[in-house]
Amino acid sequence: MTVDIIHIRNMIVVFLLMALSVNTECAKETPKRCQIVHQNKYTDVPCVNLGGYRYAELPEAATVLQTSELPKDPRLMPEIGNGHIATVIQGDSMFMNGLYNGYNCTSHRARIASTCGVITECLTNCSSRIYKLDLARGIFIERYDGDGFYMEIRTYAHRVLNRLFVVEIEMSRQGNQNVTMGIKVNSGKPSTDIKYNTQLKHLNNGKILVGRTTEPEYPSIVGTIPVGIIYDDVPDNITIPNGISAMTVYFFTGISLQSSESITYYDKGMELMVNRTLLSTHVDAWMDVWNKGRIDVEGNDDLARTNYASLYYLLSSLPLQRDQHNWPFWGLAPCGLAHGDIGDYLGRKFWDQETWMFPSILLLHVDISKLIIDSRVRKLTLAQANAGFRGYKGALYPWETAFTGLEVDCPGSMGFSEFHLSSDISFAIRQFFYLTNDTDFILHEMAGETMLQIAEFWESYVYLNPTTNMYEFNNVTGPDEYNVGVNNSVYTNILAGMCLQSAQMAGKMMGKETPKVWQDIQDRLYIPYDKDTVYHPEFDGYKIGTSIKQADVILIGFPFMYKYESDEARRNDLNIYEKVVGNGPAMTWGMYAVNWLELGGNKNHADELFLRGTKNVQKPFYTWTENADGSGAVNFHTGMGGYLQSVIYGYGGFRINENSLNFNPQMLPGTSRWNITGLDYRGNSLDFSFQENEMFVTLTNRTSTVVKIYLYKDETTKILSSTSQTFPVQKAEITVE
Ligand SMILES: *[C@@H]1O[C@H](CO)[C@@H](O)[C@H](O)[C@H]1NC(C)=O
Ligand SMILES: *[C@@H]1O[C@H](CO)[C@@H](O)[C@H](O)[C@H]1NC(C)=O
Ligand SMILES: *[C@@H]1O[C@H](CO)[C@@H](O)[C@H](O)[C@H]1NC(C)=O
Ligand SMILES: *[C@@H]1O[C@H](CO)[C@@H](O)[C@H](O)[C@H]1NC(C)=O
Ligand SMILES: *[C@@H]1O[C@H](CO)[C@@H](O)[C@H](O)[C@H]1NC(C)=O
Ligand SMILES: *[C@@H]1O[C@H](CO)[C@@H](O)[C@H](O)[C@H]1NC(C)=O
Ligand SMILES: *[C@@H]1O[C@H](CO)[C@@H](O)[C@H](O)[C@H]1NC(C)=O
Ligand SMILES: *[C@@H]1O[C@H](CO)[C@@H](O)[C@H](O)[C@H]1NC(C)=O
Ligand SMILES: *[C@@H]1O[C@H](CO)[C@@H](O)[C@H](O)[C@H]1NC(C)=O
Ligand SMILES: *[C@@H]1O[C@H](CO)[C@@H](O)[C@H](O)[C@H]1NC(C)=O
Repeated sequence: MTVDIIHIRNMIVVFLLMALSVNTECAKETPKRCQIVHQNKYTDVPCVNLGGYRYAELPEAATVLQTSELPKDPRLMPEIGNGHIATVIQGDSMFMNGLYNGYNCTSHRARIASTCGVITECLTNCSSRIYKLDLARGIFIERYDGDGFYMEIRTYAHRVLNRLFVVEIEMSRQGNQNVTMGIKVNSGKPSTDIKYNTQLKHLNNGKILVGRTTEPEYPSIVGTIPVGIIYDDVPDNITIPNGISAMTVYFFTGISLQSSESITYYDKGMELMVNRTLLSTHVDAWMDVWNKGRIDVEGNDDLARTNYASLYYLLSSLPLQRDQHNWPFWGLAPCGLAHGDIGDYLGRKFWDQETWMFPSILLLHVDISKLIIDSRVRKLTLAQANAGFRGYKGALYPWETAFTGLEVDCPGSMGFSEFHLSSDISFAIRQFFYLTNDTDFILHEMAGETMLQIAEFWESYVYLNPTTNMYEFNNVTGPDEYNVGVNNSVYTNILAGMCLQSAQMAGKMMGKETPKVWQDIQDRLYIPYDKDTVYHPEFDGYKIGTSIKQADVILIGFPFMYKYESDEARRNDLNIYEKVVGNGPAMTWGMYAVNWLELGGNKNHADELFLRGTKNVQKPFYTWTENADGSGAVNFHTGMGGYLQSVIYGYGGFRINENSLNFNPQMLPGTSRWNITGLDYRGNSLDFSFQENEMFVTLTNRTSTVVKIYLYKDETTKILSSTSQTFPVQKAEITVE
């Protein structure tokens, strides 16, 4: 019965479409015929705009990464994704949000053998072949041109039908040339992570695989995870049949927990294919994302592309809203959703999420940023269990987590003393609250409780030194993983103090009394500080000149906004630690740049450091490697996160305060103008444009009664409106009423 209905429905569509096409230009002497093809079923459609590909208003120079040669190193291939599923173009693996396999410290993203990683070849006389990553529209395009014909392969992870990968191949000719493409799917070896126990065929001929991961992370907590996939087989080659001028052939892959859900999305994909809105709905959704938050620069295409690519990759690993099918967002891994191998941090979650990737998403896409924090808040009980196992109170977030939220780092690893992660999470929650005033999140969605529990952990870990009568935190590892198990890491101590303060705020809001000792600890917290040299030794006994792995102490200035003893102390910290940080991973240099930009007086040096960070960007697809020489993990989303912070918080000078948003713009190197569009503040949306001497501010969406700007140098306050207002460049503060 269902089969008949589908057929009848499709036939009606075909008739309608044929009726529509009668009066078009196609009806000349040699009538053109165009078709869409899925599962060998050919459907006539009007000969215009086969894919429904829509152009939009974003600068092509900044958003289309084009090349005639793929990178020699396949690690540098770009990815497509939508927060639920992701894959590397031409790669042999597909990954799904939250799908992990492996016991205890072997847990990693479960690999699904690819059914969409197509590798094509021109079997007729093509004269050129180009590849494009279209960042604005979220599509990877491969195109062949020949004498009077072309073939274009478009691959995307649908931004609306987010269980679906789509490969669509458009082939078009003017005459009767033979136009043939060879095609194969790079599915690699069979997956060892998933065992399929059923193979079925869908009514529409799609193949269905039903299985489960092979090994639960912690069987006492939860078992293996189900997976249900539907996909279209890809033929060896595709030829335009006789009498046809153009066609678009579709191949779908649907991935979900349940095959029924995958099939639903597959069927929805077919519906949109038939009415030819499949691509346009995807493109529109991406355009909507960009309209809500993006960065543009003028006069420096390379930087413009770096901005778009960094944001594109992060957004490709993020969902646009809470999942409709009770499968929440699991969080951001250092290499995003499209990677999960050993060299790529196994798809696990680290402090990279809160400290590096979250802050820029927070300002540009506040709704999405809430899902990031929610991925931690939801795991509060596991963090409490972890604290319990270790003999502490409250919540201690494990350094590496995958599926369950329990520690998956191997015993003996230094991760076991990187307690600062819990503070990074508490700080992220507080920044989110300051930006949004989302009291519900604090009161009713566990965020306040999370801050309280983290503070309780620190209370149970603190040590009151009887000699000095000061509070200390010993045997910890800060961000600098070259120096493990140290006493009184500046970073750790300062952040622990902030956690206690944030928890007091949360407690007050929640009407809960907080322990008095939380205040005592803040009042008598020992922070290593060398008064003679005027700098912060990274930990007890740190000797100037000792190598460090990455930005550590300097992070207290930014992102953590510690009130420095003096500008001199801050300058010394920057100078002393810059000398010993070696080559540092991607995100190090951006943070030095932000701190110098805020301190002032050395813009050239800040620019140098900022540009040094961009050396990790690898052409042609602006993927990021962990290290500048191309080594380390790829595609290094953590680096992109640090980079975007250096743009927004560094050159934009944005700071999220308890009741205001500050900014203090400077010019990005080599640019004549730069813009932030769709910055979110307390339910309002703001556009900024910065030039050497002028800054423009527009309130594009207002929910507050009044949005004001205070100009520090001019000492005046203005009301912002939907009309762009121009001010001389200076430090400014935005507040709402
Ligand atoms: C993981 O396995 C190690 C031993 O290899 C064990 O010490 C540890 O407790 C296990 N982790 C959990 C959370 O059970
Ligand atoms: C390709 O072009 C060559 C010479 O131009 C011609 O001999 C050959 O038949 C063409 N091949 C195809 C498959 O069209
Ligand atoms: C077109 O060329 C391909 C490759 O040479 C060949 O396999 C195929 O049979 C040809 N098709 C037609 C319709 O001539
Ligand atoms: C095209 O595919 C068909 C069916 O698999 C096969 O018989 C034929 O040899 C292929 N042609 C080329 C040129 O690969
Ligand atoms: C295309 O089909 C979908 C699903 O049936 C429907 O929601 C949408 O309105 C249709 N769009 C057009 C332009 O017909
Ligand atoms: C930046 O913003 C200004 C003012 O709104 C606008 O005129 C300009 O076109 C924008 N530049 C880019 C590259 O979007
Ligand atoms: C320091 O911490 C590590 C792991 O967190 C632990 O194995 C070690 O025993 C601790 N050392 C001391 C002296 O407490
Ligand atoms: C923040 O939210 C609370 C509760 O919703 C409200 O009472 C308060 O006025 C808000 N503050 C601002 C500055 O909007
Ligand atoms: C770290 O602190 C402990 C006391 O908690 C002390 O025994 C140890 O000697 C200290 N280590 C260093 C290197 O200062
Ligand atoms: C303006 O903000 C409101 C509330 O956040 C939102 O519902 C609406 O879609 C926004 N409008 C535009 C044009 O962005």
